[in-house]
Amino acid sequence: MPSITLSRVALLTSGFVAHLAQAYTQVDVASPFMYKNIDPIVFPGQYDKSHLHSFFGSDAVTINTTTSAELQKGCTNVENPNDLSVYWVPTLLYQKDGSWEPVPVMRFSAYYSLGDTKAEVPIPQNVKMLAGKATATTAAEMPAEAHAEWFCEGSSSGAADTNGFPSSTCATHLQQLLYFPNCVNTDTLETAYKAGQPGNYKACPAGMKAMPQLRFSVRYDLRKVLPNGWSGTAPVQLACGSAYCSHGDFINGWTEDAAQNMVEATSSKNKFAAVDGSLGSDGEKPTCKSADADPDHGTSDYAESVAAMGKRSVPAVGWVSRNRLVRSLSTK
Ligand SMILES: *[C@@H]1O[C@H](CO)[C@@H](O)[C@H](O)[C@H]1NC(C)=O
Repeated sequence: MPSITLSRVALLTSGFVAHLAQAYTQVDVASPFMYKNIDPIVFPGQYDKSHLHSFFGSDAVTINTTTSAELQKGCTNVENPNDLSVYWVPTLLYQKDGSWEPVPVMRFSAYYSLGDTKAEVPIPQNVKMLAGKATATTAAEMPAEAHAEWFCEGSSSGAADTNGFPSSTCATHLQQLLYFPNCVNTDTLETAYKAGQPGNYKACPAGMKAMPQLRFSVRYDLRKVLPNGWSGTAPVQLACGSAYCSHGDFINGWTEDAAQNMVEATSSKNKFAAVDGSLGSDGEKPTCKSADADPDHGTSDYAESVAAMGKRSVPAVGWVSRNRLVRSLSTK
């Protein structure tokens, strides 16, 4: 259920002032419909180049996807039938019996316009966006505007560990935030961030208009897969490396009428507003079953994805000692 309390906590946790948050909308996805080593934005038309990603939304996505219309032919696992966008992030992994496996996702939420002022235009059809930087290996290399963050939901996360993850066990969920550009040139579909920061945004660059700002919020449940928790280096990694490589990708697949309704839904202050459309109402659960549109190519296995890239798995700082720690904890 959309909850303003949770989102306020998230804003406050991340250190932003939430007093002027505008209305926002949010769509939820229960879990990824596919893990796969493709990236139609960064490596269009190519296999074996990308690290492993977790995909949410329209299952029409393939290496070749470039338009909203293609996505709108798919089945979406978003709990809003008007949202046929595709969203993806590098897969978060933990070690199980010597191999790296995806950490279960408790919920993926796409927020729109949380803490932002009313949009001037809807998110245009065919818009593609990236937030964060897959090659960043330090906090300093991360693009500041993406405000990429990892923290324990509703509890203290302690200081970040050497890889940028919380340094002690989360009581419930490990949460990831990522902010996307909120300005667009409606002719070229180039995107950019407003000046300022969430909760206190200023103007878009010249020639651009304000569109609803997308923010990813991913909640991972570590309780079953890491029942002994951790203290020190968190026993997880992203398929791209440490928390500093945190990034997200989006190709718009909202139907045009719902994308327009989203602008209206973000016009009044401080409350959640549902976005309905010609395909149904906000919150409606998927009635179709999402599946990989191209199952004969690529892999959903982390080790195979690493081998396909022709690289050895390059551990982030601290993985070795972390593995030892996990083992010693689990023998207690
Ligand atoms: C991607 O496009 C290429 C070139 O048109 C085509 O050969 C290939 O079958 C397409 N792959 C998928 C999965 O759509």
